[in-house]
Amino acid sequence: MKRKGIVLAGGTGSRLFPLTLSVSKQLLPIFDKPLIYYPLSVLILAGIQEVLFITTPDSAESFRNLLGDGSRLGMSFEYAVQTEPRGLADAYKIGRKFLNGSPSVLILGDNIFFGHDFQTHLARAYARKGASIFASLVKDPERFGVVQVDERGKALSVVEKPSKPLSRWAITGLYFMDERAPDFAVDVKPSARGEIEIVSILERYLAEDELSTEMLHRGFAWLDAGTHESLQQASDFVKTLQDRQGLLVCSPEEIAYRMKLISLDQLSRLASDLKQSSYGQSLQAIVQQETGSHHG
Ligand code: TTP
Repeated sequence: MKRKGIVLAGGTGSRLFPLTLSVSKQLLPIFDKPLIYYPLSVLILAGIQEVLFITTPDSAESFRNLLGDGSRLGMSFEYAVQTEPRGLADAYKIGRKFLNGSPSVLILGDNIFFGHDFQTHLARAYARKGASIFASLVKDPERFGVVQVDERGKALSVVEKPSKPLSRWAITGLYFMDERAPDFAVDVKPSARGEIEIVSILERYLAEDELSTEMLHRGFAWLDAGTHESLQQASDFVKTLQDRQGLLVCSPEEIAYRMKLISLDQLSRLASDLKQSSYGQSLQAIVQQETGSHHG
């Protein structure tokens, strides 16, 4: 069965106040595109075509206006609301109907991934049984979910915000799970901080020896945009890379084309709609390069 994607894009964004008092964090700009484009790009790159966006009730309409029904990208988008930020595992309670027995990929709406060979990691996780998480080295593991792995990358333990971390490998906001995840989510009890934790679902897979870890090594960028500082850093990072390489970082339109969800003609129309901006112009440049390479 094909995997379906869920983007969890609710939350309060309180660490970004006042920016997020009336606008969802995931609609804020990361340089030239809204934050939500970045996790969406990851799902497209993973080979996902059906996506559920979970948002707050207040921002639901803005997301629909921005992203529509997905047909522009050769995809299918659905929407659901989360009335309170009850925790990451809630994505599987809200998403149960949408998933309808399919395996899934869950990504947090404020997570940015960029680096060489990412598609290989994604393809491996896509094909694997059970659940897969993606781990990245951080200097302050006590702020994250932390995974301890053996030398083959098998997970040995997962702990949410440990006071004494057993490794510096943080669990990133990208999770591949099989069809059992919504059932596991139902059993999760709120933690001391009152949230239903995704780690509780991961522990179920771990107990059955079905939790695998993809290690994102040196040179791979995993960013979140949760604070003023990290929001600015993410923008700077994207701008620097794009300027230097002349490539777009996480453009859903470009990736949908490369994944063969839309034709070059369709990409050309999408680019033309945005041609007043440098983003649209970069898409137009891709269309030109591709036209050249097809004829040349
Ligand atoms: P967080 O950064 O933990 O929470 P937040 O976005 O509400 O921000 P703050 O801590 O500043 O108040 O959330 C990580 C991502 O997960 C973010 O994209 C929002 C999303 N999220 C939900 O959609 N629902 C939830 O219940 C939780 C806990 C997070």
